[in-house]
Amino acid sequence: MVISSHIFMSTLHHLILIFFISLLGTSSYLQLIKPISCTKGPIFKCSEVEKAALLGFKYNLTDPSGRLSSWVGEDCCNWLGVGCDNSTRNVVKLDLRNPFSWFDDFDQYNKSCLGGKINSSLLDLKHLSYFDLSLNNFNGTNIPKFLGSLENLRYFNLSFSMFSGVIPPHLGNLSRLQYLDLNSNGFYPTLNQVESLEWVVGFPSLKYLGMDYVNLEKVPDWLHAINVLPSLRELHLASCGLISLPSSISSINFTLLSVLDLSGNDFSTSIPQWLSHLTNLRSLNLGGNNLIGEITEFVDGLSQCSNSSSEDGNLPSMQEIDLSFNQLNGTIPKNIGKLSRLVSLDLSGNSWEGNLTEAHFQNLTWLKSLKLYVEGYAKATLVLDVKHDWVPPFKLTEIELANVRIGPNFPAWLKTQIELNYLALENVGISC
Ligand SMILES: *[C@@H]1O[C@H](CO)[C@@H](O)[C@H](O)[C@H]1NC(C)=O
Ligand SMILES: *[C@@H]1O[C@H](CO)[C@@H](O)[C@H](O)[C@H]1NC(C)=O
Ligand SMILES: *[C@@H]1O[C@H](CO)[C@@H](O)[C@H](O)[C@H]1NC(C)=O
Ligand SMILES: *[C@@H]1O[C@H](CO)[C@@H](O)[C@H](O)[C@H]1NC(C)=O
Ligand SMILES: *[C@@H]1O[C@H](CO)[C@@H](O)[C@H](O)[C@H]1NC(C)=O
Ligand SMILES: *[C@@H]1O[C@H](CO)[C@@H](O)[C@H](O)[C@H]1NC(C)=O
Ligand SMILES: *[C@@H]1O[C@H](CO)[C@@H](O)[C@H](O)[C@H]1NC(C)=O
Ligand SMILES: *[C@@H]1O[C@H](CO)[C@@H](O)[C@H](O)[C@H]1NC(C)=O
Ligand SMILES: *[C@@H]1O[C@H](CO)[C@@H](O)[C@H](O)[C@H]1NC(C)=O
Ligand SMILES: *[C@@H]1O[C@H](CO)[C@@H](O)[C@H](O)[C@H]1NC(C)=O
Ligand SMILES: *[C@@H]1O[C@H](CO)[C@@H](O)[C@H](O)[C@H]1NC(C)=O
Ligand SMILES: *[C@@H]1O[C@H](CO)[C@@H](O)[C@H](O)[C@H]1NC(C)=O
Repeated sequence: MVISSHIFMSTLHHLILIFFISLLGTSSYLQLIKPISCTKGPIFKCSEVEKAALLGFKYNLTDPSGRLSSWVGEDCCNWLGVGCDNSTRNVVKLDLRNPFSWFDDFDQYNKSCLGGKINSSLLDLKHLSYFDLSLNNFNGTNIPKFLGSLENLRYFNLSFSMFSGVIPPHLGNLSRLQYLDLNSNGFYPTLNQVESLEWVVGFPSLKYLGMDYVNLEKVPDWLHAINVLPSLRELHLASCGLISLPSSISSINFTLLSVLDLSGNDFSTSIPQWLSHLTNLRSLNLGGNNLIGEITEFVDGLSQCSNSSSEDGNLPSMQEIDLSFNQLNGTIPKNIGKLSRLVSLDLSGNSWEGNLTEAHFQNLTWLKSLKLYVEGYAKATLVLDVKHDWVPPFKLTEIELANVRIGPNFPAWLKTQIELNYLALENVGISC
């Protein structure tokens, strides 16, 4: 009897011990102690003012798929898309990017679009630094001027969100901005325009400016306006209706520029020399303009940069050149073969002539994509003149050649291209 009662007591102790251990391991234990320990400790919830600001913002939005249905309850820091500073619990991030895009899954995208109006209660988010509304559908309404008062914004993405009208110069008040993405795809009703770009002077730290498909016809001096941005790394002004690409520029401020996309505009000059002085440029995309003339000086300029920088141990940075569908002509200069970092070269849709030799490809060890469709079916004016046992320095994944004579014999060098997953040859003069 005594023995069994002793066993009973020790089992009970054991159980109580297990009970405490399991309490220690759960969050309910933490919640038990929170009211006592957090009086002067960290803050656990977002502020009432910021919560009200978010609810006001939600109030005027349309949300057919219920993406904001988690926006209920005490702590707005737990709401979907809302990010708070870990110590102050201020709302610093609002990521409401549509998780679907029209090109992946149109129906899902269409269902998941937020829309409606933007309530100015948003201005109560005084600490907001990251705001992404991309891929939603604001159905052609204007970008509200008051967004220019979200003065802590560093990242602002309204791309593909179907705003239209004049982009308010008030955005120029966002002096801390590093990323401004207003790209669109030009689908109706997205017709944004800009009447002057002088307001970009307000962005001393801007690294990324995206305005694809924004109408800049009224801004002939766009380059001078952009030239006040010393921190710029990426500039996207594709299909903006630009007509003037100045042949000279007194001094370049955006020397850190690494990606420049000016495709689909209406430039009808030759390629300006200052472009080859941008020594950090790794992607130039000038396709679909009406650029004329030869590219020899431009390519020589690029390869000279690389020549001088090889000496101090740096490689040329250019990785991607797209000059497709312009009215360029003449020969393709040998110095293109010195751009040793080149990964993608698209010279299609121009009127090239002359011979391409081994030298044209000498240092292109990283090249993966080569596109060379020459205008003019009748006369093959461009000839690939390489030895029959040429072993190219590259392993391409993509080759597109048209109206370039590589025959009449089957080109043996093609057999060395063992990584190919796309090969298109048209009118290349191979007789079989
Ligand atoms: C913002 O939303 C609130 C509802 O939370 C509404 O009462 C108010 O009128 C809206 N403000 C504006 C400026 O539309
Ligand atoms: C906040 O905390 C989360 C989770 O611990 C962490 O992933 C995140 O990096 C932190 N954010 C900052 C800004 O420190
Ligand atoms: C997108 O969905 C809405 C209904 O939510 C529909 O009225 C509209 O026609 C759809 N848009 C397109 C382009 O299919
Ligand atoms: C938000 O909705 C309220 C009530 O319908 C309306 O009075 C207000 O004007 C709306 N705000 C905006 C910015 O459209
Ligand atoms: C802005 O959003 C789009 C679409 O969600 C995205 O593809 C793009 O990379 C974003 N821009 C920046 C600068 O992050
Ligand atoms: C979108 O805008 C068009 C034209 O302004 C209008 O007819 C249509 O009702 C709007 N759709 C929504 C959902 O507001
Ligand atoms: C914001 O910018 C606009 C237009 O550039 C200007 O008129 C306005 O005074 C600025 N507002 C503030 C608060 O700086
Ligand atoms: C370069 O940028 C600075 C700062 O924005 C500006 O003051 C200067 O005028 C710019 N230089 C040129 C040549 O535009
Ligand atoms: C590159 O540098 C070498 C040696 O310094 C020089 O001989 C050559 O002419 C340079 N090439 C170009 C294209 O400047
Ligand atoms: C290239 O085109 C220009 C006109 O755009 C013409 O003046 C020039 O003669 C052409 N050069 C060659 C080599 O065909
Ligand atoms: C280019 O290739 C030649 C030999 O093919 C080599 O000697 C030279 O170092 C290469 N230059 C660069 C910049 O890669
Ligand atoms: C171009 O190559 C062909 C042989 O394919 C040769 O007959 C011709 O002389 C070459 N032209 C030049 C300018 O080197």
